[in-house]
Amino acid sequence: MVLFSLGGRLALCASMVRPQAALADVGTDHAYLPVWLAKRGAISRAVAVDIRPGPLERARRNIERYGVGDIVTARLSDGLDAVLPEEADDIVVAGMGGLLMADIVHRTAWLRDEKKRLILQPMTHGEDLRRRLLGDGFFVLREQAVLDERHVYTVMLCAYGLRERGADELFPYVGGLSPDTRENRMYLRRELGCLRNRANGLRLRGETGRAEELFRVGERIRAMLRDGSGKG
Ligand SMILES: C[S@@+](CC[C@H](N)C(=O)[O-])C[C@H]1O[C@@H](n2cnc3c(N)ncnc32)[C@H](O)[C@@H]1O
Repeated sequence: MVLFSLGGRLALCASMVRPQAALADVGTDHAYLPVWLAKRGAISRAVAVDIRPGPLERARRNIERYGVGDIVTARLSDGLDAVLPEEADDIVVAGMGGLLMADIVHRTAWLRDEKKRLILQPMTHGEDLRRRLLGDGFFVLREQAVLDERHVYTVMLCAYGLRERGADELFPYVGGLSPDTRENRMYLRRELGCLRNRANGLRLRGETGRAEELFRVGERIRAMLRDGSGKG
C-alpha cells in the first residue's frame, strides 16, 4: 500500500516528534499521524487515542490497512486518562480547541516531567492555551506556523520546567513565534488584527486600561513584524 502524504499541519506536528520516540496521539481520529510515522520507521511505538468509538474505528482500519499494528495501538480514552506515563515520551494533541487541550494537559499529572514533550496544534484559543500552559509550569521550546489549505495554524513544542521567556506580556499572543518565515508573519499579522479589534471594542466600552494594554501589545507585534527578517 502506497503511503499517503500528510497535510502541512500534521507534517509540522510529525517533524517535532523525536526520532524513535514512544508517541501518544490524542484525538487521533483517522490515526494518520502515528500510521505515517510508523510506516517511515520514525517511532518505536504509538498509542492512538480518541474519546469516540467512530473515529477509533477509523484509526483501527488505517492501522490494519497500512500493516503497522505491531507499532500502533488504538485505544478509547478521554485525553490521556487511559494512557500510562511509560507509554509515551512525545504527546501530540492536534486539531482540537485550545481550551480542551489545556484541560487535558492540566489534569494529566505525569506530563509534569522534563523528559516529556508536548506537541500542540490548537484550532482556537492559542492565547488561552499559552497562558494556561505557563500557569501549569510548561514552556514553549519552539513554535512554528504553517499554511495548510489556505489556513494558517501554529504548532508548539512544549516541555515542563520554568523559563523566563513566558513572563513577557507578549508571550500569550506570540508564544515562540518569531517573524522569520512567511507563515509565522501571517499568523502574527492575524493576531495583530484580532488584538486591535478587541482593543477598539474595549475602548468603546470604556475599559480603557485593558484597551491600552492590548494596543501596547499590538504595537510590539507590529514592531516585530517591521524589524523581523524577510518580507511577507
Ligand atoms: C478534528 S479531529 C483531529 C484529528 C487529528 N488529530 C488531526 O489533527 O487531524 C479531533 C478528534 O479529537 C477527538 N476528541 C475530542 N475530545 C477528545 C478528548 N477529550 N479525548 C480524546 N479525543 C478527543 C474527537 O473525537 C476527534 O476525533
